[in-house]
Amino acid sequence: MFLGKARAYTNIALIKYWGKKDETCILPMNSSLSLTLDAFYTETSVCFDKNLTRDYFSLNGEEQSVQQTAKIAAFLTMIRQQYQLDLFAKVESTNFVPTAAGLASSASGFAALAGACNQALQLGLADADLSRLARRGSGSACRSIFGGFAEWEKGADDASSFAKKIPSDDWENELAMLFVLVDDRIKDVSSRDGMKRTVQTSSFYQGWLETAPADLQTAKAAIAAKDFKALGEVTEANGLRMHGTTLGAVPPFSYWSPESLKVMTCVRQIRAQGLPCYFTMDAGPNVKILVEKKNISQLKALLLNDFSENQLITANAGPGLSTLPVER
Ligand code: PMV
Repeated sequence: MFLGKARAYTNIALIKYWGKKDETCILPMNSSLSLTLDAFYTETSVCFDKNLTRDYFSLNGEEQSVQQTAKIAAFLTMIRQQYQLDLFAKVESTNFVPTAAGLASSASGFAALAGACNQALQLGLADADLSRLARRGSGSACRSIFGGFAEWEKGADDASSFAKKIPSDDWENELAMLFVLVDDRIKDVSSRDGMKRTVQTSSFYQGWLETAPADLQTAKAAIAAKDFKALGEVTEANGLRMHGTTLGAVPPFSYWSPESLKVMTCVRQIRAQGLPCYFTMDAGPNVKILVEKKNISQLKALLLNDFSENQLITANAGPGLSTLPVER
């Protein structure tokens, strides 16, 4: 038996990853940049065992069906092939999220699984290789290997596509992200399907590809200069451009709900009143607001005019992947 356990935190992209160049290897069309957060994380243990006849996966204590285990099994098969191993594994994952808000993330999940496999099989992988491994489970997972700001360089092949930490002199600790939960239903179009559809059919996708590299440079320069306004503006603009591509897809789709639009309007109004804050969204209707920590209480107080306390979750910058002691 080979055992390993790890914890990884989720990350939210300020410059989004949107579109794959290679579906199997998960190579992205554009480079991206994220902030790892402390509020949501996954702990995963893995046990490779010669007595198992298939892979098993349990999530939050519930045994998952063969179908629900498919992505995990595909990831484990990739590891078996890469490291000439012929053992199946039992994977146990727990998602730590403040509420059952549908925020369980594949980013923290696959980063934690990569870390647990690294420990169990004593692969001795350095961060860049762990990032490459996590990427094979879910693209955004490659950024959750690192705490604070991370940049995923798209690279040209499996060897060159991985994330690295962006040094920021701990500036990330002066920032926060407020999650506004507007909907807890399972999303209609997964990020995987949404990306595929926009890459293949959206007449706006070319515009995304033309602007994303400059957005990334702007974000990196803003981090280097600790310029919150510049980082916020490019975060919001880049997120909107990503969502814009979905409207040009065939058939068109959108991740926004009426409530998402309400949050965006509030953010703009609050900003006009003089409090700097900027929104971003991923493949679902919840909105995340980037704000300086010193302004978080005021932002929350203003949002409480339109939303309830339990819809608002504050996250600070979080740490990178860590291994945990295994329970035998
Ligand atoms: O890694 P995935 O397949 O869950 O895709 C993530 C896509 C976005 O969250 C929309 C953007 C990003 O960079 O995280």
